[in-house]
Amino acid sequence: MDTFSPIGIFDSGFGGLTVLREIERLLPMYDYLYLGDNARAPYGNRSFETIHAYTLEAVEWLFRRGCHLIILACNTASAKALRTLQQNNLPRIAPDRRVLGVLRPVTERIGTMTLSGHIGILGTVGTVESRSYVIEIEKYFPKVVVTQEACPMWVPLVENGEADGKGADYFVRQHVERLCNADPLIDAVVLGCTHYPLLERKIRRFLDRRIAVVSQGAIVAESLERYFSRHPDIERRCSRGGERMFYTSEKARIFEGPAALFYGREIRCREMRFS
Ligand code: DGL
Repeated sequence: MDTFSPIGIFDSGFGGLTVLREIERLLPMYDYLYLGDNARAPYGNRSFETIHAYTLEAVEWLFRRGCHLIILACNTASAKALRTLQQNNLPRIAPDRRVLGVLRPVTERIGTMTLSGHIGILGTVGTVESRSYVIEIEKYFPKVVVTQEACPMWVPLVENGEADGKGADYFVRQHVERLCNADPLIDAVVLGCTHYPLLERKIRRFLDRRIAVVSQGAIVAESLERYFSRHPDIERRCSRGGERMFYTSEKARIFEGPAALFYGREIRCREMRFS
């Protein structure tokens, strides 16, 4: 085994830091290597082919850095690229390594979070169009009714520091109302995008109080802990030095400023290039 074998955390940009934050809160002892593909973000409106190609490049880069386990901490990449990576690419490039996504941890529990059996998904255009949440939830909870709403303005609002601004109210309200009007029986709403926890306060303001808001980070972290207990062979391959490393495909200064918003503290990051 490589001595330094961090858990790879991949996102199109900053958003995966909201997931890493929760994972390391629960599992601080492991080494983590974060890669944000900021130079090519956002992924939300891109085609399946492009998202798959970009995600594969990132996964290969993280494997070369010693990762044996990678979490795609990006809903769009998990929704559009994960299955093809697992079924077509991994068996050829790294059959003994693993890539996991952020959809399944939520979908396998969502049925226990609703009383009405009606849930809502808020996500990027890519995530919603892939219907991955709908398909996954149907496998575990075939009776649960799923309604989706794409919110294309929300990622740019967050990335431009407008999450708490007055201007964001209009767009948050618009999508929250559309979702709830489409199915008034919804009693749980999944924040199906890494950026949305930063809008959570506003989202709650426009949602009826009886509706639960489901954020992914903590659920993904608990799911990873359970995964390790089911797969001790993979767990043993993840090194435990408590180290954090951050890379971006953009300029470091472009990543470092907003990163603190998502991660909750300042970070220093390094630059990488896809060759
Ligand atoms: N990280 C993406 C997600 O969770 C949002 C940002 C993007 O569109 O690239 O879907």
